[in-house]
Amino acid sequence: MFPFVCYDINVREIIDIVHTEQPMENRTSISEEIQRLKREKNAVILAHNYQVPEVQDVADFTGDSLGLSQRAAETEAEVIVFCGVHFMAETASIVSPDKKVLIPDLEAGCSLAATITAEELREWKEEHPGVVVVSYVNTTADVKALSDYCCTSTNAVKVVKSIPEDKEILFLPDMFLGAYVQKVTGRKLHIWPGECHVHAGIRPLDINNIRREHPKADMLIHPECGCVTSSMYYASSGEIENGHTYILSTEGMVNHTKSSPANEFVVATENGILYKMRKLNPKKKFFPVSEESICKYMKMITLDKVLRSLEEDVYEVTVPHAIASKAKLAIDRMLQIT
Ligand code: 13P
Ligand code: SF4
Repeated sequence: MFPFVCYDINVREIIDIVHTEQPMENRTSISEEIQRLKREKNAVILAHNYQVPEVQDVADFTGDSLGLSQRAAETEAEVIVFCGVHFMAETASIVSPDKKVLIPDLEAGCSLAATITAEELREWKEEHPGVVVVSYVNTTADVKALSDYCCTSTNAVKVVKSIPEDKEILFLPDMFLGAYVQKVTGRKLHIWPGECHVHAGIRPLDINNIRREHPKADMLIHPECGCVTSSMYYASSGEIENGHTYILSTEGMVNHTKSSPANEFVVATENGILYKMRKLNPKKKFFPVSEESICKYMKMITLDKVLRSLEEDVYEVTVPHAIASKAKLAIDRMLQIT
C-alpha cells in the first residue's frame, strides 16, 4: 500500500473561478429565483462551510459533515439540495431514504474518499479476520457498507475508545487522523495511508511561520483532512508550538471564533470557511495558513448550478438499498456517539 496523493489541482484556475463572481444584480435575481423554487418544491438547501459565499448565503443551513448529516436526517422537506461533495450527498440519502437528494454537480468528489475502494477494503479485512472497521465519514457508501463504525473529526477518539480493548481496529482512510487517534487513545490501529490533497500541503513549518507573524492569534486546525490532521499530529507530538492551538471540525472552528476572547485567528483548513467566520465576527481578524488551501471539488458548486438543480431536479444521488442499509448501521453509530 502506498499513500494516495492527488496533486492534479490547478490552484490558480480555482482561485479564478472563486473570484469570478456574477454582478450583484444577477446574483440577487438568481438567489430570489432559488428561494421561489425552493418553496414551490418544498426543498431545503444544505451547504458545507467550504462552499462559495453566494451558495452559503442561499442555504437554509451551513455546517460541518456531522451537522449536515443530522439536518438531512431531521428535515421535513421533500427535496434536499446538497451543496457539498458527493459522499456527503450519499450520506444524506442514506439517512433520509424517502427524500430526493440532489447535488448540483456530480463531479464534486473528494480526493480523500477516493483513496480507498470497497474492493481494497474487502482485501484489507481478509488480511485481519475479526477486525472492527472504523471509517472516517469521507468515504463512499460502498466503503461505509463494509464498515462497523463511521466517525467524524468530532467523535473519532470517542468512537475508538468505545470499542473493546481486545479488538483489532482498521482505521481509514486518513493516515494523519488515524495517527492522531492512535496517539490520543493509546490503541494500536491499522491505518490506511490516505490523505486529502488540499490539506496535505500545509506543513508544521507553515503553521509555525504564520504563528510568529500573529503571536496573539488563536490557531485553529481542522483534524479531518490529511495535512491538517498531520498538523494535528505534529501539534500533539510537539513539532508545532502548542499554545492557543485548537483542533476542531469546521463548525467547531466557527463556534470557537464567536466564543473566544481573541481578536485574531490563524485558520488551517479550506479557505471557504473564512467567509462565515468574517460574517459572524466583523471586528475580528482571520488569516489563512495558505492562500492556496482551496478544495476544487467544493468550489464546483455555483449559484447557477444550484438554480439548475432546482429547476431540472438534477443530479439525484441514490444509494442501492443493499448498500444503504449496511452503511446506515455505521452512520447511525456515528450519529449516536457525539
Ligand atoms: P467537517 O466535517 O469538519 O466540515 O469537514 C469535512 C471535510 O470534508 C473537510 O474537508
Ligand atoms: Fe475531500 Fe479534502 Fe475537499 Fe474535504 S477538502 S472535501 S477531504 S478533498
